[in-house]
Amino acid sequence: MGVKRFNDYIGIYTKNMQYVFKIEDEFLRHVHFGDIIPLEDFSLEEIKEVSSNDSIYDVAKEEFSYHGRLRYKETCLKVEFEDGTRDLVLKFKNIILKDNQVEVYLQDDFYKLEVVLRFIIFEDEDIIARNVEVKNIGEDRVDIEKIFSFELNLEGLGFFIHNVGGHWGSEGLRFRQPINYSKVVLESRKGNTGHSNNPYFILERDATEDKGEVYFGVLEYSGNFKIVAEGMSYGHTRILAGINDFDSCITLKKGEGFKSPTVYFGYTKNGFSDMSRRLHRFIRNNIMPKNYNKNIRPVLYNSWEATLFDVKCEHQIELAKRAKELGCELFVIDDGWFGERNSDRAGLGDWYVNKEKFPKGLKPLIDEVKALGMDFGIWVEPEMVNPDSDLYRKHPEWVYQFKNRECTTSRNQLVLNMTLKEVQDYVYGFLDKLLSENDISFIKWDMNRPFSEAGALNLENRRSIWIKHTEAVFDIVKRLREKYPNVHFEACASGGGRIDLGSIRYFDQYWTSDNTDAFDRLKIQEAYSLIYPAIAMRSWVTDCPNFLTNRTIPLKFRFHCAMMGTLGIGGDINKWTEEEKNIAKKMIEEYKSIRHIVQFGDLYRLNSIQNDEIHSVQYVLEDESVVFTFLPRQNYSKSKFRIKLKGLDSNKKYKVTTEEKVYYKSGAYLMNYGIELELKGDYSSSATHVKCE
Ligand code: DGJ
Repeated sequence: MGVKRFNDYIGIYTKNMQYVFKIEDEFLRHVHFGDIIPLEDFSLEEIKEVSSNDSIYDVAKEEFSYHGRLRYKETCLKVEFEDGTRDLVLKFKNIILKDNQVEVYLQDDFYKLEVVLRFIIFEDEDIIARNVEVKNIGEDRVDIEKIFSFELNLEGLGFFIHNVGGHWGSEGLRFRQPINYSKVVLESRKGNTGHSNNPYFILERDATEDKGEVYFGVLEYSGNFKIVAEGMSYGHTRILAGINDFDSCITLKKGEGFKSPTVYFGYTKNGFSDMSRRLHRFIRNNIMPKNYNKNIRPVLYNSWEATLFDVKCEHQIELAKRAKELGCELFVIDDGWFGERNSDRAGLGDWYVNKEKFPKGLKPLIDEVKALGMDFGIWVEPEMVNPDSDLYRKHPEWVYQFKNRECTTSRNQLVLNMTLKEVQDYVYGFLDKLLSENDISFIKWDMNRPFSEAGALNLENRRSIWIKHTEAVFDIVKRLREKYPNVHFEACASGGGRIDLGSIRYFDQYWTSDNTDAFDRLKIQEAYSLIYPAIAMRSWVTDCPNFLTNRTIPLKFRFHCAMMGTLGIGGDINKWTEEEKNIAKKMIEEYKSIRHIVQFGDLYRLNSIQNDEIHSVQYVLEDESVVFTFLPRQNYSKSKFRIKLKGLDSNKKYKVTTEEKVYYKSGAYLMNYGIELELKGDYSSSATHVKCE
């Protein structure tokens, strides 16, 4: 259906959703978001102030609020005009309705400033996208002090907002928080998304996995973001999202414009599970790089936990041979191969091959990896420099800095001023050289510290650094992808610090977390799965006791956990016993037989260790399904569990295989009675394959 107009009411439609707003001279009034209702039925009353202290501007449910007049609520836009005026008065000018797009043109009453509010409709996907463009159509400078892409006003109070907290190694701590007569702020001020709050919102009042109304939105941005939920005294709830206004400013000179990042949002009556599946499909098909989003992901080996910085050609070749024997398809050398990089204290920025570790360069290793039939990948951290490096000694002026302030190091490193053309050229240049001189298929792009002393004296508006940094980084990745379309990229920022829609537009996968403990991972991966698809979630099987938690977990459990995303091995496999290697071979083979279901299927969270004894996740792709089940801790003698499956066809007959046990049941049976599993002992786990016969 796309778009409909009835008088001043505009209806935006997807398959199952309707979004309605009304055009008035000074207000764009939000009317409805949810199920489809005849547009002709809507008739809004005139907005009235509550008192002289409660203006119509605060009472109104606006589509696009801005700083001006008697507005004290959170707003989407704040500007300063060159003459010092810091007040906007936007009037409706025009609306352009297309099949899958609505553009509303607003213009300041006096100043030459135009705002375009844009909705893009993904009808079949049941997703609406929204962004805002601000254009300076006059002669004088305009400073944008705040720009949010998204605002939604929901009738009533009593909503809960969901997001995650956490820190390095504990990404994705889920929380649910009430929104009362106050604000809840989710944000990053670190320069990247970081390991704590993530740029999305989920709002509900009583939703569960499969039932209840859920409003959700994800911001396509990989920098300082801000999401504000506000419970209004006038009986409604607002949610706004965009670029963080903290220390931020964008200058528009004559004729210049700025487009805010896009928010993809939706509504469902069928709980979190429906929301997740819709987002997974949408992100896979509409956001992720098109030249790789339909490809099966290889099983990877990464040598980081095995060697740390102690990488040596011969030893890496040994690891590559073992990795091949186990069934790996991509061999990745991590940190430590370049410059004087023997620890995190030196060498970052010096992107030449370390001659002691690789006397004949990378070629012997790459040749061996290729001869074994695997692809080769390599780690880089292009945005950073160690003060103890040739690069820093030559170009101390290339890092972010303020006059009269010492630069604060973190992990012994500083952040390069990526807004400088010469730094961009250097970074692009070394990567271009690396990729053109070597047969490399995969780049792990790391970023191991947030910004400090974020000074870029080269910028006309210095507070635009936060925005310009990420733009510069992603522009380099974009250019490299164009030149090397067969090279794939992983976004890593000390683990999951760059998990967002902004990065997955240019990268093919995320490194989910440096925490590779399979028990913690169940929670980290569950939180991840709320929004992001399994195909982009790299998970490794590593050694025990785990370096972070000191926990020892059976290899099978570790495999099953990592098999719920794109499988990788990150242990010191030279030291694995024959028994471990045999288990690994078998499980990698099993993963290869079901990975299409995991990577391209629909995900159902059946049980969660957040509130159950067991944790189980099911993936369904057409006539096939796979269910992973985990029992971290056995309770008394209980070892039998019955799990009802989802997403199958009631009328079809399925072959059910759990290890050696094989039987046939109808979809109706599997979904209403369930599969019966025996899980005995702490950290037992299983994978059940269900296939239509
Ligand atoms: C942080 C990453 O998350 C790790 O996987 C590893 O690549 C190290 N950096 C290397 O320094």
